[in-house]
Amino acid sequence: MDKKLINKGIRSDGRKLDEIRPMIIKAGVIDRADGSAYVEFGTTKVIVGVYGPKKVHPRHMENSQKAILKFRYNMIPFSVYDRKRPGYDKRSVEIAKVVADAFENAIFLEEFPKSAIEVDMEIIQADAGTRVAAITAASVALADAGIPMKGLVSSVAAGRVEGNIALDLTKDEEDVSDAIDLPVAMIPRTGEITLLQMDGDATVEEIEQIVKMAEKGCKDIEKVQIAALLEKYTTKGTN
Ligand code: CDP
Repeated sequence: MDKKLINKGIRSDGRKLDEIRPMIIKAGVIDRADGSAYVEFGTTKVIVGVYGPKKVHPRHMENSQKAILKFRYNMIPFSVYDRKRPGYDKRSVEIAKVVADAFENAIFLEEFPKSAIEVDMEIIQADAGTRVAAITAASVALADAGIPMKGLVSSVAAGRVEGNIALDLTKDEEDVSDAIDLPVAMIPRTGEITLLQMDGDATVEEIEQIVKMAEKGCKDIEKVQIAALLEKYTTKGTN
């Protein structure tokens, strides 16, 4: 008596297969950080703060040629149904690493030798897609901090659910037995893909379709990221 999540191309939350969940992106939401952003993809909620470029501690970590990136990914205890034990675990360390890699080629690191750029990503509520929401938020927060980049990094996952190729999977969709999920990040301005992950089995054709759908999603997300930055920088100073 398995209840299907997708019927005639319409998902259980009413979305079409190629639709992203309702998205909110806000730039500059924290006064204390040098740059910040808030992102919602449906019920997945993320806040990011950026500090730097600043001095490197410990000093032996500094690079005389370029800035080093320090990304942290953290799920707060009430972000998931079963209270998550506070602190970092193997998964959060791995996600921080892949997210940092997604920005390595986007940021002009050579402009800030011997310095560090710190990016703290806090997952407030998780319903799948936390790493892609975190990348999307980190990108806006970095821009808000004035860090020069080739372009914004935009990110979303696409995958397969009940045999359908679908964009921006929810946790319920990810949990379906044959589901696969591919988080993708790209710099829409240059077309470079800076993150591509996958678990599960898929055919080459499926992967091609999934990546194509995610690329289109990233391009749509970039527009909302730009709008968030424009909103902050065109309304500031009016109060
Ligand atoms: O969040 P993302 O899709 O980037 O990463 P994931 O490792 O594929 O996790 C998928 C989802 O599983 C998360 O977004 C959470 O909703 C859930 N999860 C959880 O409930 N408890 C954890 N400790 C880790 C993940």
